[in-house]
Amino acid sequence: MKKIKKIIIGTNNEGKYREICDLLPSNIKKYSPKQFGISSPEETGKSFKKNAFIKAAYFSKKTNLICLSDDSGIAIDLLKGEPGIYSSRWSGEKNNFNLAIKKIYKKMKNLKKDWKKNNAAKFICCMVLFWPNGKSYAGQGIIKGKISNKKKGKNGFGYDPIFIPEGYKETFGEMKPKLKMSIDHRSKAFFKIKKYFL
Ligand code: IMP
Repeated sequence: MKKIKKIIIGTNNEGKYREICDLLPSNIKKYSPKQFGISSPEETGKSFKKNAFIKAAYFSKKTNLICLSDDSGIAIDLLKGEPGIYSSRWSGEKNNFNLAIKKIYKKMKNLKKDWKKNNAAKFICCMVLFWPNGKSYAGQGIIKGKISNKKKGKNGFGYDPIFIPEGYKETFGEMKPKLKMSIDHRSKAFFKIKKYFL
């Protein structure tokens, strides 16, 4: 199999871009949509896989490079899987995650007074590789955990300050980035596609 030597990472989300770069081997040439002045396509799919595919195909076709994209989000059991594929959109146009997190706590509280006992959640990530010739390959990763009673920690991005992974006491926001990266949904998805790089 021909190993990938250069790639565009199909995201305009800085937190995600950084984490995907850290997962990839250092000797691979990495490009971002920003370097080409390309904004993200509309995510019209109804699943993580479909939306990851839309982004990977879009950025690959625009640049004629192989593209790796990820679609990810947090799914809360009590909220029947919400915000799920809408995780980014819940933060509004200004990517205000304080707002999105407030919305989560409000919805959980409104549904159940003892929501703290019904706090199961998971992060899901689907990664898609898309080649300019139309070939594609997908891998998905999930990490189970729970919603923290309150927001904690300044590391990471998005919903990291409210998610405690199974088997740990601290939120992703409190965790050292290296530890998060070794256990999270993104690294699990990457594990399934890494044969194209290593
Ligand atoms: P999208 O895949 O670009 O639609 O956005 C996914 C959204 O899910 C991000 O904007 C974050 O809000 C959230 N998300 C995905 N992965 C993580 C993570 O590792 N930590 C925190 N939030 C995440």
